[in-house]
Amino acid sequence: MVKRVAIIRTLGTAGTPAGMVWSGASCTMAGVTTRPGAIIGALGALLSAAVYLTSPHTVPVFHETQWYAGIAFAFLYVALSIRPLYTTFPRLPYASTALGSQPAFGISAFYFALLHSYSGFWGFVGGFGGLRYWSGYFASSLCFGLLALCLLTIAAATSIPYLKRHMGAYWKFAHRFIYVAGVLILIHGVTVTIHLAHLRAILIVTYLSLLFLLGLHILRFDRYAAARYHALPRRIVTVICFPVVSVVLFWSFFFLDHHAH
Ligand code: HEM
Repeated sequence: MVKRVAIIRTLGTAGTPAGMVWSGASCTMAGVTTRPGAIIGALGALLSAAVYLTSPHTVPVFHETQWYAGIAFAFLYVALSIRPLYTTFPRLPYASTALGSQPAFGISAFYFALLHSYSGFWGFVGGFGGLRYWSGYFASSLCFGLLALCLLTIAAATSIPYLKRHMGAYWKFAHRFIYVAGVLILIHGVTVTIHLAHLRAILIVTYLSLLFLLGLHILRFDRYAAARYHALPRRIVTVICFPVVSVVLFWSFFFLDHHAH
């Protein structure tokens, strides 16, 4: 059954086509009710088809590997930003819709990460036989990617309502793997060989976006620590963690060699 919340906002007045209504976890357009999860799922299916159909089908498989990685990263970014965004800015509109669509973004991230890993390993690296031509440094970067994929699989599987209901207290613990996966993906992304055109511009935009996301998470953790440990000086977690994170990210984005094989 589609979940509904008390506050119903008509987006027609806020620039959305008239007759389209968002209510909590569903979107109603001309009498047809759709969950945001279904829209995100359909978007994922369309995007993956578009990547495949626009591929030049060359070997090594650059096109699919890179586009699937980028889309997986974007979905994961949205999945990880929704909650801290709403706890930091509680007045933002469509809170319950956004929070309700978080699992769909996480599952889509897993789907694209799976496609990326498949084309990356078989079409780019050359499978197990191809591994011997790459350095140990590159192989360890792939291991971080593989580990991240395993954790994303656990996080996606535990989003299934049946498992969620039956896992009880373990659910929250298992679901936190998504944060560890995020860190491993960062390590994989900055250590793996990257053959992207416009790499510098992409690195600058990604760096700034990640700073924003990590800043939100640090602020959230700061509020949690302040509520738990009253003796802590105000904003101490943010004052210490944010500069450290900015410097580490800056080093890994702009000083590490992204072409080390
Ligand atoms: C077995 C698992 C994995 C394998 C074999 C793998 C393989 C690769 C390869 C070969 C590249 C280099 C592509 C290039 O030269 O441009 C790459 C890059 C990248 N991978 Fe993975 N990967 C794996 C898991 C993941 C996962 C789970 C993510 C999550 C989103 C991810 C995100 C990225 C990103 C962001 C890049 C850099 C951008 C790019 O070059 O496309 N990878 N990966």
